[in-house]
Amino acid sequence: MSATEVAVIGAGGHAKVVIATLRDAGWRVVCAYDGDQTKWGTSISGVPIVGDDDRIGDGPPRAVIAVGNNRTRQRLAGRLGLEWVTVVHPRAWVDASVRLGAGTVVFAGAVIQPDSVVGAHVIVNTGASIDHDCQVDDFVHLAPGCHLAGEVHVAEGAFLGTGASVIVRVEVGPWSIVGAGGVVVRHVPPGVTAVGVPARQRGPGG
Ligand SMILES: CC(C)(COP(=O)(O)OP(=O)(O)OC[C@H]1O[C@@H](n2cnc3c(N)ncnc32)[C@H](O)[C@@H]1OP(=O)(O)O)[C@@H](O)C(=O)NCCC(=O)NCCS
Repeated sequence: MSATEVAVIGAGGHAKVVIATLRDAGWRVVCAYDGDQTKWGTSISGVPIVGDDDRIGDGPPRAVIAVGNNRTRQRLAGRLGLEWVTVVHPRAWVDASVRLGAGTVVFAGAVIQPDSVVGAHVIVNTGASIDHDCQVDDFVHLAPGCHLAGEVHVAEGAFLGTGASVIVRVEVGPWSIVGAGGVVVRHVPPGVTAVGVPARQRGPGG
């Protein structure tokens, strides 16, 4: 098995973009695993969906969890012992000082500025930006077009919807959700959903 062969776990819409990102970054995606039996024996973006993750022993030792849901990525990462690939699209910009954790994926058009630290199994989706000195913890998902100003902290498992923004030095609490288009101007407490401009708390988180 070659050192550039990789598997993806998950075969939904998000996995299509992960597969495209891996290919553009020079990886060969050899198989996908998914719990949905109706997908077994079919393919996604030309990658065969071989079965559930109990087939992992037959595939390459390297993988990316290609699932957008943060809780699911956390659960799979805890259960499956694989070498997690960190991948940056060649048309993303990540400053050399930035640290990225295992299994983190940075999609096309994303920008990560100096001295930011990004944890494991984070999704920096299409065109999202993380400015200087941010801390983005494990299992966060920044949806397409999200913007973090400088010195923002996004805590573990938080989800920021499409086009959400966070102003400088503000924190989004663990497992909280910021709705699409929300503008966060004050700390978001743990485990809540905040929406709107400015973002206000509206219910429990994810
Ligand atoms: C915030 C969010 C998680 C809430 O989802 P939900 O709990 O299913 O909420 P509902 O659709 O039932 O809406 C509940 C209320 O919140 C409002 N609302 C929902 N999303 C909102 C948003 N982003 N901004 C402002 N108000 C919003 C609805 O209008 C509704 O208001 P009402 O009670 O006055 O009618 C969701 O709407 C959202 O923004 N998700 C982001 C999705 C996304 O960007 N995905 C990217 C995947 S890559």
